[in-house]
Amino acid sequence: MIDLRSDTKTLPTQAMREAMMYAEVGDDVSEEDPTVNRLQETCAKVMGKEAGLLVTSGTQGNLISMMSHTTPGQMIICHEKAHIIVYERGGLARVCGLLLQPLPGKYGAIDPCELEATIPPDEIHRAPLGLVELENTHNNCGGTVLTKEQIDGVADVAHAHGVPLHIDGARIFNAATTLGIDVKDLIEKADSVQFCFSKSLGAPIGSMVVGSKEFILKARQARKIVGGGMRQAGLVAAAAELALTDGVPRLGEDHANARTIAETLAGLPGIQVDLDAVQTNIIFFDVCREDITAPTLCERLGQHGITASARDDRTIRFVTHRDISAADTDTICGALKEILA
Ligand SMILES: Cc1ncc(COP(=O)(O)O)c(C=O)c1O
Repeated sequence: MIDLRSDTKTLPTQAMREAMMYAEVGDDVSEEDPTVNRLQETCAKVMGKEAGLLVTSGTQGNLISMMSHTTPGQMIICHEKAHIIVYERGGLARVCGLLLQPLPGKYGAIDPCELEATIPPDEIHRAPLGLVELENTHNNCGGTVLTKEQIDGVADVAHAHGVPLHIDGARIFNAATTLGIDVKDLIEKADSVQFCFSKSLGAPIGSMVVGSKEFILKARQARKIVGGGMRQAGLVAAAAELALTDGVPRLGEDHANARTIAETLAGLPGIQVDLDAVQTNIIFFDVCREDITAPTLCERLGQHGITASARDDRTIRFVTHRDISAADTDTICGALKEILA
């Protein structure tokens, strides 16, 4: 089956499985796992930050970053469609005790002037601002990319108010690939970033949080609170190391495949797709026809060996990834034409 549901659906490669089998390991809760330590150092270097911390998932990476930057009762400002609001089970409220102030913005961007106007004054009635959060690429806006200028503009406002900026960079390397920029330059002004090995980079498990040494010490403590301390985690880190070395250079292929599929969709009757939003490996499109709904289209794709899922009656999200080749892309485009043309 060709699985378009998510880039989390990739299976570990043979090389990853072998690296996991032979990884040198130790107890990572006591910081004794050499493979984890090496991965954390590499990631800190790649991201241009002082230190890194391996965590189980993107959700955990975001959660412990918020726990480490804030105290309960503070406000967090982020985009209205941010993953931390929509898809993380309200953890920022339940675990971190944070008050949320969402802001609208095209393709996941936050306007620095609007941010400035939203920051609560230091006044008895108002919850103090604890954190500003951005997401890059922005999943729910269609895998859209925030540029360095967009990030820096937001960071400057946050920092002028003495507040840190966290980036949910689950797919930050996709953003850097599209922009043709070194990832460390892209996130230069962020105080912390979490990115996922288990999405477009193709590893089975794990995310990395990076930031200052002081922040990572707090994040390590927060990870312990949520039960995220793993023991011989070098098994996870070994696959993640390969995800970093082999996964990043090939992301452009996923973007090219996504573009091919999006352009095919755009040429089919009754299909609405915003081609400007297709900037990385995610495609959102609407099925606006009398004869077929989004769930029925997914069913029909299933008959062609393609797995896809509808968001609702009208909208479908496709995600390209390492396990979808250019030949698979041709199969997908052929099936779409056969069903919809
Ligand atoms: C932007 C973004 N952030 C965070 C996450 C959460 O990652 P995980 O599923 O590893 O918890 C996802 C998952 O898809 C995501 O797309």
